[in-house]
Amino acid sequence: MAALSDSAALADTAALADTAALADAAALADTAAVILAAGLGTRMKSTLPKVLHRVLDRPLVAFPVALASRLGVGRTVVVVGHGRELVEAAARAMDPNARFALQAEQRGTADAVASAMAETEGCRRVLILSGDVPGLTEASVQALTAAYGDGPLALVTMTPPDLRGYGRTLCDAEGHVLRIVEDRDCTPTEKAVTTANAGIYLVDREFLASALARVESSNAQRELYLTDIAVMAHAQGTPGRAVHVTDMGEVLGINDRAELAQADARLRRLRNLEVMRAGVTLRDPDRIVIGLDVTCATDVTIEADVVLRGTTRVGRGTVIGQGAVIDSSTLGENVTVKPYCVISEAVLDDKAEVGPFAHLRPGAVLRSRAKVGNFVEMKKTVLGAGSKASHLTYLGDAEIGADVNVGAGTITCNYDGVNKFKTVIEDGAFIGSNTEIVAPVTIGAGALVGAGSTVTKDVPAGALALSREPQVNVAGWAAIKGPHALKSRARKADSHS
Ligand code: UD1
Ligand code: CA
Repeated sequence: MAALSDSAALADTAALADTAALADAAALADTAAVILAAGLGTRMKSTLPKVLHRVLDRPLVAFPVALASRLGVGRTVVVVGHGRELVEAAARAMDPNARFALQAEQRGTADAVASAMAETEGCRRVLILSGDVPGLTEASVQALTAAYGDGPLALVTMTPPDLRGYGRTLCDAEGHVLRIVEDRDCTPTEKAVTTANAGIYLVDREFLASALARVESSNAQRELYLTDIAVMAHAQGTPGRAVHVTDMGEVLGINDRAELAQADARLRRLRNLEVMRAGVTLRDPDRIVIGLDVTCATDVTIEADVVLRGTTRVGRGTVIGQGAVIDSSTLGENVTVKPYCVISEAVLDDKAEVGPFAHLRPGAVLRSRAKVGNFVEMKKTVLGAGSKASHLTYLGDAEIGADVNVGAGTITCNYDGVNKFKTVIEDGAFIGSNTEIVAPVTIGAGALVGAGSTVTKDVPAGALALSREPQVNVAGWAAIKGPHALKSRARKADSHS
């Protein structure tokens, strides 16, 4: 969660001091966040609920959940419906204390909030967020809190380039909100209004409860509109206040895959800016993806087309070459990853070197200065300090000591079709090229294995193991049976016929 808060803080105005943030966090302790996430999102044209589609490396719903916890709200309630179990799991992964309210049938945004009201019991206010708006920042919610004043309502407005589908927020000259009219219910005059409702509200809980009880579905969509609470606040003489957010990236909801891609690009850009400002060199940042839980020390260099995901940690001075894809791995200091490596759940200690074109699968561990070259695959294998596997090799379920040389084309035969077995290669051993090591087997310290051997028995320390057929040389054989001899004999036979 800390990593996400860093990147969101970046998007927040720089002027925002920590102390102000702390004060505001305290100010929202009496507030419940209600996150609307029950809809399917038909325009995504997906079997996956909309809020589970990802931007950067998080599902959409995780963003408002994380925002709510950064804001220090007293409680977070996610309204779920479509794909309920999956949405709950995604929200809980971000905030284990999140609560859920089920809206079995999607009868409109007012109905969605109404279904969460029981879970907000005891809170003074309700902060309503949308599950499909990933860009919202703490600064904007703090502006909303400031606009709220004595309440009972403050809401966020925006001016989207394309107003279609958005409710228009009608305000008087003093900035009081008169009412919100949905696009489909607008008169031509109302349609011309360019101030749209962003769907983000801070509402007094008691007022909200009484207003929700009065909402009716007498509109174009036959839905229960949450937006009706605006006219109700005005009617009782306490009109809502609007906070206008000018950065559309912050407030734009995701409705289709094009908007998903836009949000993704925006967040990636902000994230990369943050990483660069923290002292990391990104060559061509538009082509680099760095997940929100990734950490990079200073003086790391990342080339184009690199993807860093999950909980990957990268130590000082490490260089990650073009096209590497690294997931949830730990890289020490001054590690070199050459281009086009795929590395997952692996550990590379200081000064290790890998690639190009290497595949480190879960449990691959390179101790310091260990070196893995091109077309080498490793799985659940420790390659000891200073050891090398430079070319065309598979190392699985192996424990390899220090200063071992693994020759080109070495294969650990770790699997008999049913079970996996372990290979142990002790310090200083030398494995000749094109060797098969049939596990379980141990090759002792300082032992040598001749090239082309198939090792099926333990090799004692210091011994030479050779298992290939001895070579035989037949003198003069080429002149009698070699291809040239055969061809010239055939030609002679032809010319005589
Ligand atoms: C809503 C607003 C509109 C605003 C727009 C901003 C209403 C009536 N209109 O419209 O003024 O401009 O957001 O994006 O509120 N949801 C549920 N249950 C439901 C209905 C919706 O959980 O029964 C959730 C959706 O999953 C979504 C959010 O509420 O996350 C917004 O719903 P959506 O249908 O997208 O509202 P809009 O019609 O876009
Ligand atoms: Ca919407």
